[in-house]
Amino acid sequence: MSKHAVQASGLVKTFGGFRAVDGIDLEVRRGEIFGVLGPNGAGKTTVLRMLATLLSVDEGHAEIFGVDVRREPHRVRQLIGVTGQYASVDENLTARENLWLFGRLQGVPAKQARATAERLLGQFALEEAADKAISKFSGGMRRRLDLAASLISRPPLIFLDEPTTGLDPRTRGQMWDTIRGLVADGCTVLLTTQYLDEADQLADRIAVIDRGRKVAEGTPDELKSSVGNSTLQLQLAANADQALAVDVVRRLLHEEPVLTPESGRMNVALAEADGAADVLVSLRRAGVSIASVSVDRPTLDEVFLAITGHDTGQDAETTDESRTDEPAMETAR
Ligand SMILES: Nc1ncnc2c1ncn2[C@@H]1O[C@H](COP(=O)(O)OP(=O)(O)O)[C@@H](O)[C@H]1O
Ligand SMILES: [Mg+2]
Repeated sequence: MSKHAVQASGLVKTFGGFRAVDGIDLEVRRGEIFGVLGPNGAGKTTVLRMLATLLSVDEGHAEIFGVDVRREPHRVRQLIGVTGQYASVDENLTARENLWLFGRLQGVPAKQARATAERLLGQFALEEAADKAISKFSGGMRRRLDLAASLISRPPLIFLDEPTTGLDPRTRGQMWDTIRGLVADGCTVLLTTQYLDEADQLADRIAVIDRGRKVAEGTPDELKSSVGNSTLQLQLAANADQALAVDVVRRLLHEEPVLTPESGRMNVALAEADGAADVLVSLRRAGVSIASVSVDRPTLDEVFLAITGHDTGQDAETTDESRTDEPAMETAR
C-alpha cells in the first residue's frame, strides 16, 4: 500500500469555462490531519469532492492509498468517509434510526448495524439525543451525527468539509476533540476550513488555497511565522490621526500595518507578543489616541494578505450557519 493517504497532482475542475480548481497538488500522509485552508469560494469543496469521487476530475491525477480515483472510484469509496451529505437523510427519523439505516444501506447486517449505531452514539455523545428526531437537533448535534454516519464503515480516511463552520465555540471544541480522537484511533483526516485557528489547532500540515490554486503549504507554525507570531489589534480613537499611526508603526517595525480607515482598526504583525508595548509607547509619544487594544494570534486574513497580497474577501468574524452544500448558492466574491 502507498505510504500516502492522498496523492494528487495537477487537479483541475472547470465549471463552464471557470477554473474553480486550477492545478492543485496535495499529499496527505497516513495518520495525519491535513488542513485545506482558504476563504469561501477558494475551491476547497471542489477538491474534496473530486478526491471523494463525487465529482469527475477534469485534469490531473489522484490516488487514495494508491488507488486511482478515476480508474477505480468504487474501490476509493470503500476507503473514505465523507461528511456533509447527511442532510439527505430522513429528518423525521431519530439519530439511532438514521445510523442504523445508514449501516443497512451500506450493506451492514441488521444486528451489526444496530451495534455500530450504539457504539457511534456513545462515541459522539449522542446517547441522550438518540431517540430524538433529527429535525429537533442543534447544529452541533447534526454535525456530530453527520460525522458518526460517515464512520459506519470504519474508513481509514475521512474527509471533513468545514466541520465547524457555524458552530458555537464550545461545540467547536468538542468537534476538535472528536477529530483528534479519530486520528488517535488510526484514521487519516483531510479537512477543509476557513479558519486559521482551526487548522492551527488540528492540522499537522496545511495547504492554503486561493482562487483554485495552492498558494502556500507547511506546518501551522511555518505559515504563521510568515506573518509574525502575534498580531496587535488596535482600535484608534475617533479623532486619531490614522496616517500618523501608520507612519509610527512603519518607522518602528519597518512593517506595514493593516488599517481599515472606515472603522479605525489597525492590525500590526509582531514577531513577538512583547513588541506590542513598544508600538503602544511610540503611538502615545506621537500623540495617537487609542480606544482599545488586544494582542492575538494572526488571523487567516493576515496570513492571506501576507501570502497573496489581497484579503480573503470576507469578514473573518462571520460564521455562516446558513451555509449549504450547494456550491451554486455560495456568493461570488
Ligand atoms: N457545480 C458548480 N457549478 C458552478 N460553479 C461551481 C460549482 N461548484 C463550485 N462552483 C464554483 O467554484 C468555486 C469554488 O467553489 P467551492 O469548491 O465550493 O469553494 P469553497 O469550498 O472553497 O468555498 C466557487 O466560485 C463556486 O461558486
Ligand atoms: Mg466549501
